[in-house]
Amino acid sequence: MILVTGGAGFIGSNFVLDWLAATGEAVVNLDKLTYAGNVRNLAALEGDSRHTFVRGDIADRPLVEGLLADHRIRSVVHFAAESHVDRSIHGPADFVDTNIVGTFRLLEAVRSHWTALPAAEQQAFRFLHVSTDEVFGTLSPTDPPFAETNPYQPNSPYAASKAASDHLVRGHHHTYGVPVLTTNCSNNYGPWQFPEKLIPLVIANALAGKPLPIYGDGMQIRDWLYVGDHCAAIRRVLEAGRLGEVYCVGGASEKPNIEVVKTLCSILDAERPRSDGTSYATQITFVKDRPGHDRRYAIDARKIATELGWKPAETFETGLHRTVRWYLDHQDWVADVTSGGYRDWIAKHYG
Ligand code: NAD
Ligand code: TYD
Repeated sequence: MILVTGGAGFIGSNFVLDWLAATGEAVVNLDKLTYAGNVRNLAALEGDSRHTFVRGDIADRPLVEGLLADHRIRSVVHFAAESHVDRSIHGPADFVDTNIVGTFRLLEAVRSHWTALPAAEQQAFRFLHVSTDEVFGTLSPTDPPFAETNPYQPNSPYAASKAASDHLVRGHHHTYGVPVLTTNCSNNYGPWQFPEKLIPLVIANALAGKPLPIYGDGMQIRDWLYVGDHCAAIRRVLEAGRLGEVYCVGGASEKPNIEVVKTLCSILDAERPRSDGTSYATQITFVKDRPGHDRRYAIDARKIATELGWKPAETFETGLHRTVRWYLDHQDWVADVTSGGYRDWIAKHYG
């Protein structure tokens, strides 16, 4: 059995569903259910004995140690985090608590569990830490994409807290021998992404007739990866990654934000035309830039491709179409998660 942390969030819930479909191996899912976690994402698993959901904090060491021992956990996949850059600017403390202190306590629980395992189980055990390309900082238009050897230069409280967690994971491997793997992935998109992030926010606002906010000049570049491809990469690293190694994961799909938003508008124009016959692009509104906004992220994914044979199955075009259709078919989910707390956030952040 594996332990997944943060399995009620965006990538975590996609991973739990993908994992059970691909491997059938049972999952214990530990999630605090912050604003970003939603058990409705896992409704398809209701009554499925292979999925055990536990509401709790990764920083609760006795709880985590109990779960590791009681379920004889053979591997941990660690997604739980505060994940939104804009929220980290308004309130960085939660990012330190969960991403740094929480990861540290989780690592300590894992270390104590792993140390007590019989030799064969110790050898098979893995702790996979899911991280981000944002730890590497920002690229100029002509820089080569980030690779595993890039220095860490985090520029936001979110990126700094993830960078710190990566270092703690590395330290536990080199000092105590904890068998870790780390992935640094580029921007994900797909089903069940909370509509505070660019792609689901734009879809939701477009359909609601609201402005589509573009920070600054909209020429910041992100390397977009469909979430299902990220889940497949994590499965592959867990299965065959070399101990202590880092794998960069990306979509080879660099797009400026303005292009992403215009593409979303044209997909929506075709799938769900506006009643007045004009394009959703008329709702695009340039707003004040994000402080410290990184200009460009891009990933060189050659290591995971050559060592582990992973490459994305979706292109940006196919993935984005799938994503828009999913949001059109799941407007009840969007309505559900965009209630009180969400409205407070939008009012505070976008004024
Ligand atoms: P998310 O915000 O959608 O989900 C995070 C989940 O963690 C939520 O379900 C939340 O309830 C849970 N959580 C938060 N604090 C917790 C705690 N203290 N204890 C237990 N659970 C807690 O995030 P996401 O976008 O799914 O990202 C998942 C992971 O992947 C994060 O570590 C993030 O840094 C990393 N990542 C994300 C992206 C991306 O584009 N979204 C890209 C690369 C890496
Ligand atoms: P986001 O989805 O928050 O991911 P990240 O900051 O982790 O890359 O933002 C993606 C890009 O879109 C980023 O450059 C910021 C920009 N953005 C906007 O222009 N407007 C918005 O309303 C949001 C949420 C993001």
